[in-house]
Amino acid sequence: MDHRMMARALALSAKGAGQVSPGPLVGCVITTLQGEVIGEGFYVYEDVKHAETLALEQAGGTARGATAYVSLEPHAHFGKTPPCTDALIASGIKRLVAPLEDPNPMVSGRGFDHLRSAGLQVSSGLMAREAKKLNEKYFHFMKTGRPFLHLKLATSIDGKIATRTGDSRWITGEESRARAHELRQEYDVILIGAGTALADNPLLTDRSGKPRRRPLTRVVLDERLQTNPESRLVQTAKEAPVLIFTSQSAETRKAEVLQMRGVEIVWDSFKGRDLLAVMEELGKRSFQSVLIEGGATVAGNLIDSGLVDKVTFFLAPVIIGGRDAPSVIGGHGAERLIDALNLVDVEMVQRGRDIEVTAYPAEARDTE
Ligand SMILES: NC(=O)c1ccc[n+]([C@@H]2O[C@H](COP(=O)([O-])OP(=O)(O)OC[C@H]3O[C@@H](n4cnc5c(N)ncnc54)[C@H](OP(=O)(O)O)[C@@H]3O)[C@@H](O)[C@H]2O)c1
Repeated sequence: MDHRMMARALALSAKGAGQVSPGPLVGCVITTLQGEVIGEGFYVYEDVKHAETLALEQAGGTARGATAYVSLEPHAHFGKTPPCTDALIASGIKRLVAPLEDPNPMVSGRGFDHLRSAGLQVSSGLMAREAKKLNEKYFHFMKTGRPFLHLKLATSIDGKIATRTGDSRWITGEESRARAHELRQEYDVILIGAGTALADNPLLTDRSGKPRRRPLTRVVLDERLQTNPESRLVQTAKEAPVLIFTSQSAETRKAEVLQMRGVEIVWDSFKGRDLLAVMEELGKRSFQSVLIEGGATVAGNLIDSGLVDKVTFFLAPVIIGGRDAPSVIGGHGAERLIDALNLVDVEMVQRGRDIEVTAYPAEARDTE
């Protein structure tokens, strides 16, 4: 039963996707000793109440002697809300099952200690791997102070993103593109390079139709400030934020025009092409996660820099061919095969005629 209830708590927590950053996804299920569910809840940032409180309210007096399944360690400090551990203790819950400690230093281990010292039976470790994966953005952000980087690309099966004449729309099918919009909903930031901004004039908004806490922030790496003030990105900057990272030498008159139209220009932290500095700046702004949507230059430089935490490729069953047709990843690339980026935890899903492949760089996994 523990496994089934924890799976339910994890599934509940996932309902908060897009609505919790920079906090964690949390779900809670409360059951009687016989396994009857008497309360459920999940966390969304704007709600004053945490998952545990919502579930306890539903359970009411029946929570006495019950078991609480929570997808992450309950907090024992005063934050936006009073400690959830106090609420669990006061309700008479007898047993707490939670997969992992919260990586937040304000919480880590203290929640479990508080509950144990109040006489609750606490067990941890159940479905820990699944729970950590579900909160991979939060764990990464807590550990590094930088956002979790997810590189998403769409390519032909021979790794091309356009024909030799530059024709690129659309390589993948509708199902893949709909899925890409779902992905956007789970991220705080979407990032491209100036090349994609100029070539595609993209809008880069979240059109998933699902709720989100803050608008998707659109970021362009644009050292020479080439972004067109008439572009769709700039024209919509007052509705959904646009940040352009540029260098000190960029033309100030053009910067002023862009700023007047609602774009925020970031000059200082963009030292040359220092992607780490860009990510640190985004981290300071409490962005927990970034979806990289192109193109080959930015993707290649990010792979070379070792900053990518997750990759998703949509592979279309077409062969474009041609030595001069651009490939999906630029940058320097590996010198020897042994230096190539090794991917692990590979998952594949069919999307119409395409295949969605999601995986993690082995190096990123090793340092966890
Ligand atoms: N199939 C796909 O999934 C996909 C996705 C996106 C784009 N695309 C295609 O890719 C093509 C554009 O490719 P691209 O390589 O030019 O686009 P890109 O990677 O989006 O942009 C590259 C440009 O970004 C700027 N930049 C600034 N800082 C950078 C940094 N740290 N690292 C790398 N670049 C930095 C550089 O311009 P400055 O030197 O001026 O700063 C660079 O030339 C388009 O045809 C587009 O349709 C395909």
